[in-house]
Amino acid sequence: MKTVLVTGVAGFIGSNLTSALLEKGYRVVGVDNFDDTYATHFKEVQIAPFADNGNYVLYRIDVCDAPALKAVFEKERPVYVVHLAAKVDTRSAVTMPHLYIAVNIEGTLTILELSREYAVENLVIASSSSVYGNSENVPWTEDETADRPLSPYGATKRAAELLAYAYHHNFGIHITCLRYFNAYGENNRPTMVPYLWTEKLLRGEEIEISGEGSRKRDYTYVGDIVQATLLAMEKPLGFEIINVGNNTPVSLTELLATLEKIVGTKAKVKSRPSHSASVEVTYANIDKAKKLLGWEPETSLEEGLTRLVSWFRANRLEER
Ligand SMILES: NC(=O)c1ccc[n+]([C@@H]2O[C@H](COP(=O)([O-])OP(=O)(O)OC[C@H]3O[C@@H](n4cnc5c(N)ncnc54)[C@H](O)[C@@H]3O)[C@@H](O)[C@H]2O)c1
Repeated sequence: MKTVLVTGVAGFIGSNLTSALLEKGYRVVGVDNFDDTYATHFKEVQIAPFADNGNYVLYRIDVCDAPALKAVFEKERPVYVVHLAAKVDTRSAVTMPHLYIAVNIEGTLTILELSREYAVENLVIASSSSVYGNSENVPWTEDETADRPLSPYGATKRAAELLAYAYHHNFGIHITCLRYFNAYGENNRPTMVPYLWTEKLLRGEEIEISGEGSRKRDYTYVGDIVQATLLAMEKPLGFEIINVGNNTPVSLTELLATLEKIVGTKAKVKSRPSHSASVEVTYANIDKAKKLLGWEPETSLEEGLTRLVSWFRANRLEER
């Protein structure tokens, strides 16, 4: 049985990945500090199903705490590491850049150091479509320079990729950086648009739409993101950066229309100004993921949103 160390295990993608890893017969060593980007009780609920699984262990530690993390590597000797822990909000990164640099860059550096020291067979690092900023060369390919991020968040994700390359170059570690695009689905982060609008629609509350609603996002179902992550983890490739997106951007207006159809109500809509760190469009070229990982998304927006709505009804409707 192979051991996988997953940082950010209690989060949106981390909890979905952990379910899939345990189902596939891996042993999962989870690391999370339950940071306050959103309500920590959601994270507790997300990991609750794993508590009784003998192949799962959780360490409540900060990825910036190098001695504590080293002790975990020493004890658990992971074969693979999937590094998802991060400060994740593009807007708050504009006002709290130091914190983003500490967690997303220095925290990643600690993971790189320990992966080297403990000879991890393959390291997967969560990067983001934010590295592309407002580049007009859509659909974006991985060979873009990606040197104009709009938010310090994107800058930290790009910096982490660059550090990862240097570690691969000097120490020969296998590292794949996955640039995730706009995940949505079960255990959705409650600050993201698909979640917020599902909540408002189901509660009959007003929805805020940024600008004219023409901004487009390449919404990607979390189950598809998990599949890409598993494939990347199981296939050491030297060093690669790979887009993981849906390759089908939709406007905010189209997203809302699809949600309205699924929920069966019309939204009350209020327009609000767009944030300066918000990009116009996200759009992944996924040829590289197809070629190197044999991956492509399988879940249509309507199907994925239907799952999000059902999950929300079953798990969050009673919450306030
Ligand atoms: N969700 C998306 O659409 C998306 C898009 C692009 C990239 N990503 C990246 O994917 C990863 C997972 O994102 P998510 O959507 O699941 O977010 P999330 O906030 O739900 O999960 C991140 C987890 O990391 C933990 N964490 C934060 N700081 C930590 C620290 N210092 N030490 C230990 N744990 C810490 C948090 O408590 C949280 O549980 C992140 O690296 C994010 O940047 C996500």
